[in-house]
Amino acid sequence: MRILGVCGSLRKDAFNLQLLRNAAGLLDDNAAFELADWSNIPLYNQDDDNDNLPVSVQAFKRAIEAADGVLIATPEYNYSVPGGLKNAIDWASRPAYQSVFAGKPVAILSASMSPTGGCRAQAHLRNIMAGMLTPVFPAPDFCLASAQQAFDEHGQLKHDQSRRKLQRFVNDFCDWIKAH
Ligand SMILES: Cc1cc2nc3c(=O)[nH]c(=O)nc-3n(C[C@H](O)[C@H](O)[C@H](O)COP(=O)(O)O)c2cc1C
Repeated sequence: MRILGVCGSLRKDAFNLQLLRNAAGLLDDNAAFELADWSNIPLYNQDDDNDNLPVSVQAFKRAIEAADGVLIATPEYNYSVPGGLKNAIDWASRPAYQSVFAGKPVAILSASMSPTGGCRAQAHLRNIMAGMLTPVFPAPDFCLASAQQAFDEHGQLKHDQSRRKLQRFVNDFCDWIKAH
């Protein structure tokens, strides 16, 4: 099974990247993990959404297409999804209802420095997914609050409870993909 990780933050030491890496480390041996690179995707312009699709967008779309499931870990920016992530998703969302996201199993994680853990961004992202006919893993929200205190110096989740919760999330996501 191929899982594509998408981090909503471009920050080098992003907590969401650390969360994704922890999730990847908890996948079983039958699963391969790859991290998507959307850092060079330009601003969406429908004029370019044709045979001259930017190379970075082509690569992002191919990676989604090749994956059995997409695991997104995102921060919350101003109560919503970071603009850069939304922009990348918009590119991948065409052609409408027939895009690489249509029918693609997706799971959402979030990490934030606030006590709310990015839950508002998650809610908005679920709504965006609905617009692309993308099934979202039905599970209680995994929102990592106070992320600045959650990882050790090696980027590992410090607390057993968070690790166990993430393990269960990852296992159940993979089972859900198989059943899909
Ligand atoms: C532009 C901007 C807006 C932010 N807005 C929110 C917000 O609405 N809610 C929240 O919980 N944290 C907010 N934060 C703080 C983020 O939780 C924090 O920067 C976090 O580390 C970002 O995730 P990352 O470490 O994966 O980059 C915001 C940060 C930035 C830079």
